[in-house]
Amino acid sequence: MNQWEQLDHEKIFRDPVLGHIYVQYKVVLNLINTAEFQRLRRVKQLGTTSFTFHGAEHSRFSHSLGVYEITRRICDNFQKNYPTKNKNDGLWDDSERLVALCAGLLHDLGHGPYSHTFEHIFDTNHEEITQAIITSEETEVNQVLKTVSPDFPNKVASVINKTYPNEQVVQMISSQCDADRMDYLIRDSFNTGAQYGAFDLSRILQVMRPYKDGICFKIVGVHAIEDYLVSRFQMYMQVYFHPVSRSMEVILNHLLKRSRFLFSNQKDDNQKKPDLLIPLFKNKVSLKDYLKLDDGVLNTYFIEWQDSDDEILSDLSKRFLNRRPFKSVVYDKHSAYLIKDMKKIIEDIGFDSNYYTATDNSFDQPYDIYDPDSNHHATQIEFMREDGSLVELSEVSPIVKAITGKLLGDKRFFFPKEMLNPNQNIDLFEEKYQYFNTFIHNGMIQTSKGENNYDFN
Ligand code: NI
Repeated sequence: MNQWEQLDHEKIFRDPVLGHIYVQYKVVLNLINTAEFQRLRRVKQLGTTSFTFHGAEHSRFSHSLGVYEITRRICDNFQKNYPTKNKNDGLWDDSERLVALCAGLLHDLGHGPYSHTFEHIFDTNHEEITQAIITSEETEVNQVLKTVSPDFPNKVASVINKTYPNEQVVQMISSQCDADRMDYLIRDSFNTGAQYGAFDLSRILQVMRPYKDGICFKIVGVHAIEDYLVSRFQMYMQVYFHPVSRSMEVILNHLLKRSRFLFSNQKDDNQKKPDLLIPLFKNKVSLKDYLKLDDGVLNTYFIEWQDSDDEILSDLSKRFLNRRPFKSVVYDKHSAYLIKDMKKIIEDIGFDSNYYTATDNSFDQPYDIYDPDSNHHATQIEFMREDGSLVELSEVSPIVKAITGKLLGDKRFFFPKEMLNPNQNIDLFEEKYQYFNTFIHNGMIQTSKGENNYDFN
């Protein structure tokens, strides 16, 4: 097949966030129709966040199409306004379009169900799996990519792992203002209903331009980029780090941990064996095993585990399915020493602290400048002045300067809600409950009230 072969009629996907998604190339439509890409319909983009923001049920499929579409719009703009005239002029070479579109479309192919928890528990890495799906001969995605050229799968994979030689293509898919981040921010904001995640996408696309070292922005675009970064910061604080979603993630994590424990200790023989998870429990997971997993598979096991003879597995399953989050308190280095005592009381009351407590740190850097000594090299956001010189964003934006390089977020300790509202054994344990609650109320550790649409009590 000629790699640039177009469909007889342009294919249009309606999208609630971007309006329309336009597909012109046969290879792109063929990729969308592969089994591996269709699996993404069955993995939610935001995992447990929908327990807090019920609208956030959108899938990795819609996000992936969105990243494709934003990449396509960037290519269109570059080709219209900055087409290369000779090899080293640093402008856009449109023969790079197909590799950019495919990388944008496929960048999240390796995400597992409830991805962050899942990766953490089973020690998998979605980026490595994405590359494996693209380059392994056994996948449909690989077969379709090879119709372009034998080395095309490797080219697409190298864009995703950032080793592709054309920096413009790499930065389109991964940088501090790329098609991936722009799509998830705007899509997550739309679906959660958290309006402050919205920003002016079309303006950003207008001011984005190629140059010899990658992608930068026209100086007139400072405010559009500033607004995007502030939106990103607010989405992290209000949505991605929401304590209830994190609490549901803790329960999910403990649930999978318990199931693996029971399996490896040959306990709970009455429990129906979770056949699809066994390769993970044994740390022998093939690509084929991995691609069978999705949110529905996990949820089905949770429904079955409610009737398990193992009390912990059954109880945690019910807490997860019926949305019974743990409570949490913020702590810092001055109050961290209290956690040991709190755990002890929780144990005394009868909860196994391995499964009923957790600590979680959620921190993010809203923006960072390039630091040659840092392990992960942030591609800083730069603007091109009228005279062609470059200036880094925090130099021209006091707002961005204020958040540059800062780690923002919090540390929390999670525990069963029953610790705050005792309803059993009250005589026996009243003193302990009261003691526990003095920790919560003494001002050193404070329960924080949730924002938005959730009633914390
Ligand atoms: Ni993504």
